[in-house]
Amino acid sequence: MITPKTLLLSAVALTSTTTAQVYQTPGRSKDAYSYTQPEDTVILGQYGHSEPVYPSPPARDGGAWEQAVKKAKAFVSELTLEEKALMVTGQAGPCVGNIYPIERLNFTGLCFQDGPASLRTADFVSVFEAGVTIASSWDKTMMYNRALAMGREFRAKGAHIALAPAVGPMGRSAYSGRNWEGFSPDPYLSGVAMEESVLGFQDAGVQATAKHYIFNEQEILRNPVRYENGTVQYEAISSNVDDRTAHELYLWPFANAARAHVAAFMCSYQRINGSYGCQNSKTLNGYLKTELGFQGYVMSDWYGTHSGVASIEAGLDLDMPGHIIGRALIDDGQAYSSYFGGNITVGVNNGTIDTDRLDDMITRVLTPYYALHQDEGYPSVDPSIVPLNTFSLPNTWLREWNLTGPSRRDVRDNHGDLIRKHAAASTILLKNKDKALPLKAPKSIAVFGNDAGEVTEGPLNQAQFEFGTQAIGGGSGAGLFTYLVSPLEAIKARGRQDGALVEFWLNNTLVLNRDASAWAQTPLPNKPDVCLVFLKGWAAEAADRESLHLDWSGDELVESVASTCNNTVVVTHSSGINVLPWAEHPNVTAILLAHYPGQESGNSLVDVLYGDVNPSGHLPYTIAYNATDYNAPLVTAINTTGKDDWQSYFNEKLETDYRYFDAHDIDVRYEFGFGLSYTTFALSDLSVAKLDEKADINSQPEERSVEPGGNPALWEVLYTAKVAVHNSGDVRGSAVPQLYVSFPASTPSGTPPRQLRGFDKKELGPGERGTVTFNLMRRDLSYWDVNTQKWLIPTGEFTIHVGFSSRDLPEQKTFTVVKE
Ligand SMILES: *[C@@H]1O[C@H](CO)[C@@H](O)[C@H](O)[C@H]1NC(C)=O
Ligand SMILES: *[C@@H]1O[C@H](CO)[C@@H](O)[C@H](O)[C@H]1NC(C)=O
Ligand SMILES: *[C@@H]1O[C@H](CO)[C@@H](O)[C@H](O)[C@H]1NC(C)=O
Ligand SMILES: *[C@@H]1O[C@H](CO)[C@@H](O)[C@H](O)[C@H]1NC(C)=O
Ligand SMILES: *[C@@H]1O[C@H](CO)[C@@H](O)[C@H](O)[C@H]1NC(C)=O
Ligand SMILES: *[C@@H]1O[C@H](CO)[C@@H](O)[C@H](O)[C@H]1NC(C)=O
Ligand SMILES: *[C@@H]1O[C@H](CO)[C@@H](O)[C@H](O)[C@H]1NC(C)=O
Ligand SMILES: *[C@@H]1O[C@H](CO)[C@@H](O)[C@H](O)[C@H]1NC(C)=O
Ligand SMILES: *[C@@H]1O[C@H](CO)[C@@H](O)[C@H](O)[C@H]1NC(C)=O
Ligand SMILES: *[C@@H]1O[C@H](CO)[C@@H](O)[C@H](O)[C@H]1NC(C)=O
Ligand SMILES: *[C@@H]1O[C@H](CO)[C@@H](O)[C@H](O)[C@H]1NC(C)=O
Repeated sequence: MITPKTLLLSAVALTSTTTAQVYQTPGRSKDAYSYTQPEDTVILGQYGHSEPVYPSPPARDGGAWEQAVKKAKAFVSELTLEEKALMVTGQAGPCVGNIYPIERLNFTGLCFQDGPASLRTADFVSVFEAGVTIASSWDKTMMYNRALAMGREFRAKGAHIALAPAVGPMGRSAYSGRNWEGFSPDPYLSGVAMEESVLGFQDAGVQATAKHYIFNEQEILRNPVRYENGTVQYEAISSNVDDRTAHELYLWPFANAARAHVAAFMCSYQRINGSYGCQNSKTLNGYLKTELGFQGYVMSDWYGTHSGVASIEAGLDLDMPGHIIGRALIDDGQAYSSYFGGNITVGVNNGTIDTDRLDDMITRVLTPYYALHQDEGYPSVDPSIVPLNTFSLPNTWLREWNLTGPSRRDVRDNHGDLIRKHAAASTILLKNKDKALPLKAPKSIAVFGNDAGEVTEGPLNQAQFEFGTQAIGGGSGAGLFTYLVSPLEAIKARGRQDGALVEFWLNNTLVLNRDASAWAQTPLPNKPDVCLVFLKGWAAEAADRESLHLDWSGDELVESVASTCNNTVVVTHSSGINVLPWAEHPNVTAILLAHYPGQESGNSLVDVLYGDVNPSGHLPYTIAYNATDYNAPLVTAINTTGKDDWQSYFNEKLETDYRYFDAHDIDVRYEFGFGLSYTTFALSDLSVAKLDEKADINSQPEERSVEPGGNPALWEVLYTAKVAVHNSGDVRGSAVPQLYVSFPASTPSGTPPRQLRGFDKKELGPGERGTVTFNLMRRDLSYWDVNTQKWLIPTGEFTIHVGFSSRDLPEQKTFTVVKE
């Protein structure tokens, strides 16, 4: 999904040796990093082909949605051909996506709204913490409660469908501009977060959308580029991914979404093995509708449909948004008219579109609507969102929309408290020298950095801004703040309780331009007890990051402050991976990563700084020493002029993030899963037991009929592992024990040394002991076998490792699942 403003931004005319758009990082030059595809690149090679999987599997009768399917089919049988065309094609209306009402049948239409952290085009809604933030909590209950609360807001504003949660991009590259909308480069952590989020939204009665399906791992060239006359100059980048990597990494979390009965999937912009994401029959008909047994509908990303009949046959059910946005340009600089809509009518009449397939498309669109009882009296669309939806202002609508409900509905309830609690629990403490934190009622506090204060450019940030705290990113994942508690505001409020002196310097340039000692001496008579340095990192849809350093000369700011302040605490508000070159500076006593915390930013941070909340966040990715240590580069430029030449080969296969660093024994600064607490924890007594002692476990899963999520046998718990956790310190806190699996030597090569397959969060008082149980399902102990096209459990010895990060794994046990 794209917003009109970013559309225009990214409608760049690219010339023959092309460098695509990236966000500049003000205050520093680009990383040495960039990847130009050399001239001798083999275009496609073995990937020049995506296996055809036809016909598109129809939604089945029976199963959990049986009644809903019946209702949907009964409705479809009443429709005229023109109405059918409208049911599978969006139109201009009050929401970012709209299906028009059919009054004759009492169908009041469907409203689709962004996005993954807030209802973006609405007033009086909450801006929640971003996906990467909640992933850092490693707290399943919070993941669920966040989505439940968000879902209630969507519903009360009249949105039937939330365009969330996101897990594409998953984070193959640290540089992708949208990683923060999703959760983690780890498929297991992302899978759990997807499942909890889908359940949360849908328990609120709102349809969730698993997006962007699939391999949508970079923004650069995500859409085709055209000449001014409309001819395609470059087709979108093609993600070329082998079948095993597809299953074990990128498809994995989407399988969790399907299993949670997600209503919709949104197919992605880019190509896959040379074929566009919304017309790739292998990923839509094959992986999704056959293997994962998905019973809902596939909608296109906005303007991501590139054909009519071909897309329909490949499994696309709904074209979005289906209309031209006023006179605005789309991503690739081209106005758009639907391949669906009127073309559906023509296609059915001339025999190229099969009526059964069309009926199935509508049945799929309506089944979740009935399954979630959205036909039984749903809140109307709040009229106050209309002027905020610049996608389709009323003068572009083809017809009236019933906007009779109350306007400016405040749907925020007490969600601010929840957001504050979640963001605090998601804050990651990376360093805490000599117990610098929690603060002990300091009398003199110095605050530095343009990330500390109020945002000075309004409540909805769609472009990088210098002054003000970064609490969410840009693009369709953004949010419109009714209020935003800045760190400075919260620190001042808290400092007042202790009678503290709070001074602040918010202009990074000013601090850096002055003699380093000057700010520390004047006007303070004494040196501050603590110096808090706030840094930020911007990221947004439609562009990738060009640097892993913090923005606005953040590194230099830390060095400058720390050169004269021996108690420098650094806080970052950023989209994800940043290298932290000052981390070992002796005067940098503490480091906190808060990511994008949402509207309660300052309060949640002060809760952690002062110890009202004991930090328990853990990294959902790896922080390497140097940017150049990361693998899997984005394709940022090509050196040739062929129309098909933008190609991204996922040659690292399963080795992304910690899997790569572990496989190659590369030292990192802070490893995946790492996070400190104000207390200490110890683990002991790891045990592992087969759930059914007597059962023989086969390598192959029993062939059971597919349900949403795939063969149900894959989701059966085979083993449980238990470990004792002890809070060995003197304050209450939450531990995050993590379980990693090492596969037996018989597993095909390329298997990462250790893979996350379980985690839990356990709150313990000082001295308290508890037990954590991990359920290992068949899928957790299997690899995808490309020959049999099945998940197989390998023979030989497994090792499970349990600890508090991917490199702190004190407890181990071995066991054999399948006999030789
Ligand atoms: C790109 O093309 C230029 C000019 O032909 C050449 O000098 C350069 O080496 C090429 N770079 C790569 C990475 O192929
Ligand atoms: C893409 O091509 C690779 C290599 O031939 C193959 O393993 C994979 O299954 C293909 N994926 C799709 C979605 O076509
Ligand atoms: C539409 O609703 C009205 C009023 O509730 C009802 O009388 C009518 O039968 C409904 N029509 C259909 C087609 O369900
Ligand atoms: C469109 O413009 C490009 C670049 O100028 C040119 O190569 C191409 O032939 C044009 N196509 C049409 C249909 O005019
Ligand atoms: C059919 O699709 C083409 C291509 O998008 C578009 O130009 C045309 O307007 C469509 N026709 C109808 C009747 O919608
Ligand atoms: C039938 O209609 C479709 C539009 O949906 C068009 O693409 C196709 O060329 C038409 N085929 C014939 C044989 O007229
Ligand atoms: C419009 O919405 C209101 C409130 O939801 C409802 O009472 C009314 O029947 C609707 N009117 C039409 C024409 O759908
Ligand atoms: C920030 O400080 C620099 C250097 O003193 C100055 O040029 C700039 O105008 C300041 N910015 C603002 C918004 O005051
Ligand atoms: C640490 O701070 C002290 C002032 O408290 C300063 O004298 C010293 O040079 C700083 N250390 C470094 C490495 O910058
Ligand atoms: C910082 O320096 C002051 C003296 O300037 C000293 O009293 C204090 O203990 C030092 N703090 C740390 C954390 O080293
Ligand atoms: C980081 O990169 C710099 C410059 O390439 C190099 O000097 C340094 O040794 C690297 N550090 C580590 C820990 O790899």
